[in-house]
Amino acid sequence: MAVNRQWVLRRRPKGPIQDGDLELVEAALPDLREHEVRVRTVYLSLDPTNRTWMNDAEGYLPPVGLGEVMRGLTIGVVEASRSDRFTQGQVVSPLAGTWSDYAVVPADGLRQIHRVPGLPLTANASVLGMTGLTAYFGVTDVLRPQAGETLVISAAAGAVGSIAGQIAKARGARVIGIAGGPDKCRWLIEDLGFDAAIDYKGEDVGMALDRLAPDGVEMNFENVGGDIMMAVFNRLKVHGRMAVCGLVSTYNATRMPPSPNFGRLITHRLRVQGFLVMDYAQRAREMVMEMAPLVTDGRIKWKVHVEDGLENAVTSLNRLFTGDHDGKLLVRVSEEPS
Ligand SMILES: NC(=O)c1ccc[n+]([C@@H]2O[C@H](COP(=O)([O-])OP(=O)(O)OC[C@H]3O[C@@H](n4cnc5c(N)ncnc54)[C@H](OP(=O)(O)O)[C@@H]3O)[C@@H](O)[C@H]2O)c1
Repeated sequence: MAVNRQWVLRRRPKGPIQDGDLELVEAALPDLREHEVRVRTVYLSLDPTNRTWMNDAEGYLPPVGLGEVMRGLTIGVVEASRSDRFTQGQVVSPLAGTWSDYAVVPADGLRQIHRVPGLPLTANASVLGMTGLTAYFGVTDVLRPQAGETLVISAAAGAVGSIAGQIAKARGARVIGIAGGPDKCRWLIEDLGFDAAIDYKGEDVGMALDRLAPDGVEMNFENVGGDIMMAVFNRLKVHGRMAVCGLVSTYNATRMPPSPNFGRLITHRLRVQGFLVMDYAQRAREMVMEMAPLVTDGRIKWKVHVEDGLENAVTSLNRLFTGDHDGKLLVRVSEEPS
């Protein structure tokens, strides 16, 4: 019987994750009981929010406990089943996935993955998975762009931001992306069709926005927080809308950055709305129906950055906070089924 490697949280990180905060341990795989399924992990999704689950703080999910296996979104293949709902070889995703080689779960804790013909499995772990769902409903349900309005997206070359920008462009918005470095900015404009890009590592975001949108902007799809968010917030026009998707710049922080000036909410009658992708899980089909044809024929472009080996999950996760990745960050834990 194969050994199951699992990443266990040993210590709550202070700042960026350090050696020893998590430990890779080996556990024996239990025999399957009735209605249980054994899933071999193929892809582990690394997401900025993983870092927030390591903190002992109020969140949208309980913190991962010390001594517990790290939580994470995974896609895998059924290796053995004692349920008549799943058979060997099916591609599935556990509802409560973990950073491990295998999951042994009850059948009602699994959902089947529906592949889109012509697209690799990595699409289900990115543009047509949780990432796409976040981008799609953040734009279409929270922001609802009107043709001609200007949208600013931070972490725009990242997994969510790059898709959100393309969806907004398809709905007629003018899109300005904020990203770190000339290569990412060039990709946004030349390949994705963004109207402009701001390299926040090379220029002041506020000054760049004043140049690109001297009268202000209607919308902000916020992924970063901190100074970048503040620069955009302070340039929202009257009746501006802000979708607060994430605050990645704060996830490793030991002290929270200053808040925006709430007075501006009143003077500019702003609507600021946080949202969570899990609230849209029941509407995934809606997103896939609209996006799958656009992804298949290349009108929506997407990238994945795949790191090999469960043993590299922790060092790979840190890439999300340095920007040292090119697309949706995944770990290939084992080979895809043929
Ligand atoms: N609300 C939800 O349900 C939901 C769901 C999924 C994701 N999210 C949020 O969406 C955001 C993007 O997630 P993702 O999975 O698509 O990750 P991602 O954008 O692919 O990767 C994170 C990116 O954030 C940027 N970044 C990191 N630290 C930064 C800092 N201090 N200042 C400026 N930029 C920084 C980096 O881009 P550069 O190289 O450009 O610096 C990095 O590549 C995150 O905030 C995440 O928490 C929310």
